[in-house]
Amino acid sequence: MALRTLDSLGSLAGKRVIVRVDFNVPLKDGVITDDGRVRAALPTIDHLIGQGARVIACSHLGRPDGAPDPKYSLEPVAQRLSELLGKPVAFAGDTVGESAEQVVAALADGDVAVIENLRFNPGETAKDAGERRAFAEQLASLGDTLVSDGFGVVHRKQASVYDLAELLPSAAGYLIEKEVEVLDRLTENPERPYAVVLGGSKVSDKLGVIEHLLPRADKILVGGGMLFTFLAALGHKVGKSLLEADQLETVKGYIATAQERGVELVLPVDAVMASGFAADADHVVAAADALEDTAFGAEGMGLDIGPKSAELFADAIRSSRTVFWNGPMGVFEMPAFAAGTRAVAQALTEVDGLSVVGGGDSAAAVRQLGFDDAAFGHISTGGGASLEFLEGKKLPGLEVLGWA
Ligand code: 3PG
Repeated sequence: MALRTLDSLGSLAGKRVIVRVDFNVPLKDGVITDDGRVRAALPTIDHLIGQGARVIACSHLGRPDGAPDPKYSLEPVAQRLSELLGKPVAFAGDTVGESAEQVVAALADGDVAVIENLRFNPGETAKDAGERRAFAEQLASLGDTLVSDGFGVVHRKQASVYDLAELLPSAAGYLIEKEVEVLDRLTENPERPYAVVLGGSKVSDKLGVIEHLLPRADKILVGGGMLFTFLAALGHKVGKSLLEADQLETVKGYIATAQERGVELVLPVDAVMASGFAADADHVVAAADALEDTAFGAEGMGLDIGPKSAELFADAIRSSRTVFWNGPMGVFEMPAFAAGTRAVAQALTEVDGLSVVGGGDSAAAVRQLGFDDAAFGHISTGGGASLEFLEGKKLPGLEVLGWA
């Protein structure tokens, strides 16, 4: 079944439209370090303003424990939204209380408000369906219609993502529509060769996606902290690098399956070994089968893929027609260990076909390394959500909008 889109809601002029966005942005000392998710919400919000709707944006931020916590206030995000829209944005200091009611009542056609963090209310994330529904009913009383556009959270069965969409006339906004369209192209007949590049620290976070993609992709490239569990599964020593010993048997199974199915499993041939986990740690390049043969011996810690691997990965990416990338190749936040991630990002910009960057960390990495969003086919705003989509899981926040 098809996703209900904005057009299905008819004219929204004068209507109170709740927009469920994902404004879960990284903050450092109250300052937003990557506003990609706020920018990604602009097409829908701009459209609603243009229609003369009264826009009530709501989101979660972080994982507060169902109670107000100033550290997770959406106020700085409301300010950023106001700067990006070039117009005032009202802010309600609560989510469904007096402040929210007053702010909504004061909205004129074309005005925008942000209400406080949905997760300051225990009902938002409640496991109990009744509790969740009760909170969704309070939210529903603030608006006439729901536009659901928080793609990053569609894998969560939460009050504003799921129940609210059942209570009010609802449809997907432009961001969800675009994310689903692009990710669907990766699952239904991707143009081949199709390469999947996986990084990040834990194999255990990627099990579902590896299993689901093994029979579908032509090449799977593994970098990031999880590469060391793969190298250990091949019998190599990895020093003090990240190693998930409890995943070794599973990983051996993946290596065997890839061989049986003729999927090219591209593993690093070298890595950057460091004396410790620090930006200024001493470091050297070592071959994948000799990671402990450096001055650091068994104390060495792998913090990035090496230059030969970066070249190997870049070639495998550039020679593909469809590429999905999730997870940095190394500790890109530290300049000495960013080269692998940079090489992969650069190669994605050179793909003759569709290149998709998925996940909060990879999206933050490409921006931090100075790449322009427009250089990629698509940068997904969803980390867990895009992985679960590619795993073929049913996502509650999409199902409730008609997607099946
Ligand atoms: C994300 O950052 O992946 C989304 O905003 C979802 O956040 P959550 O994992 O806290 O539900």
